Amino acid sequence: MRERAAQELSPKMGRLGAEDPAKGPRSVPPTSGDPAPKAALKLQGVRKNYGQVVAVAGVDLVVDEGEFFTLLGPSGSGKTTLLRLIAGFERPDAGRIELGGRDVTSVPPYLRDTNTVFQDYALFPHMSVAENIAYGLRVKHIPRQAREKRVQRALDMVRLTGLGHRRPNQLSGGQRQRVALARAVVNEPEVLLLDEPLGALDLKLRQEMQIELKQIQKEVGITFVYVTHDQEEALTMSDRVAIMSSGQIEQIGSPVEVYERPATEFVAGFIGISNVLVRDGVRFVVRPEKIRMLAEGEAAPSGMTVEPGEVEEVIYVGMSTRYVVRLERGEHLVAVRQNMDALGDAERFEGRPVRLAWTANHTFVLDKGR
Ligand SMILES: Nc1ncnc2c1ncn2[C@@H]1O[C@H](COP(=O)(O)OP(=O)(O)OP(=O)(O)O)[C@@H](O)[C@H]1O
Ligand SMILES: [Mg+2]
Repeated sequence: MRERAAQELSPKMGRLGAEDPAKGPRSVPPTSGDPAPKAALKLQGVRKNYGQVVAVAGVDLVVDEGEFFTLLGPSGSGKTTLLRLIAGFERPDAGRIELGGRDVTSVPPYLRDTNTVFQDYALFPHMSVAENIAYGLRVKHIPRQAREKRVQRALDMVRLTGLGHRRPNQLSGGQRQRVALARAVVNEPEVLLLDEPLGALDLKLRQEMQIELKQIQKEVGITFVYVTHDQEEALTMSDRVAIMSSGQIEQIGSPVEVYERPATEFVAGFIGISNVLVRDGVRFVVRPEKIRMLAEGEAAPSGMTVEPGEVEEVIYVGMSTRYVVRLERGEHLVAVRQNMDALGDAERFEGRPVRLAWTANHTFVLDKGR
């Protein structure tokens, strides 16, 4: 990879190298039929303390080449610290970090094949967009012609064609974010580390950028390790998600796995509304959208567990409505219904007795002792 740095483009760069049909994206997320994917990143027993604070409390994980891997967790759970350890800005107190099969635990950041995109972008204000993107290539003494070509392709890739001459302060927030991304991607790192890169954007732009980032990642085939505390963002973009809490990983899985089969109550509650119930000494979760709400007199479908309660709150959220129901046994459950007839439904259920029904295969038992 590095020895090819002076060439115009590498095959890995997907669309950047799109003229040559033989140069497709380097890799795609692994599927079960593929041969075993190579590990881009491997962490073993990685720990980091700041004085008395345990920021990362022993993390093991493997990220495959070309994977979009997300670290998801609440504020202070150790996401940024873990990313900084991978980048080499911090040294672990214990454990081992491998990049592309090489032990880099004591290797300084500039000798690691990673690039980092920070939340605040940190663009150089006095440089044009093109100069910002070219910076890393310039440092590596890539010849001017090759550099300009790669910058041009990177600009095209992030849909900023023709804006290379502008200064960062002449761009919108979303455009600046894309410059930061282009500036990192143009270096073709093995692993791109992104720390809440969309945090400063408004919701609409953030959602657009989520889709674009995911597309760009697929096109270039670079391994992404992406940090966010936004569960929807993690589910939208990732091949796999690691859910962090207090410096530890609670669960790693695909978006469907972590949502449909959370291993712990923490995961269940952090990704979505958890609805934990205890019946016969067993703690289990039933997701709001899996619950059928039956109005008075409505027959219960056979094979479903039915529990009576009363609607305490009706929360209209546009596409759907959330109903907070207090069960006769005392617990609260949230049920969600698509808004086919939102006004009618609100009237029909507000403050009324209802029965909630769900099937056993839509519930999942939480791990004991966690
Ligand atoms: N330089 C530091 N000195 C002391 N404590 C630190 C330092 N950096 C982080 N911490 C502490 O380590 C813990 C993990 O912090 P970290 O920044 O990794 O969390 P995070 O998951 O990225 O949170 P956020 O979502 O708020 O960015 C926190 O308790 C934090 O206060
Ligand atoms: Mg952070």
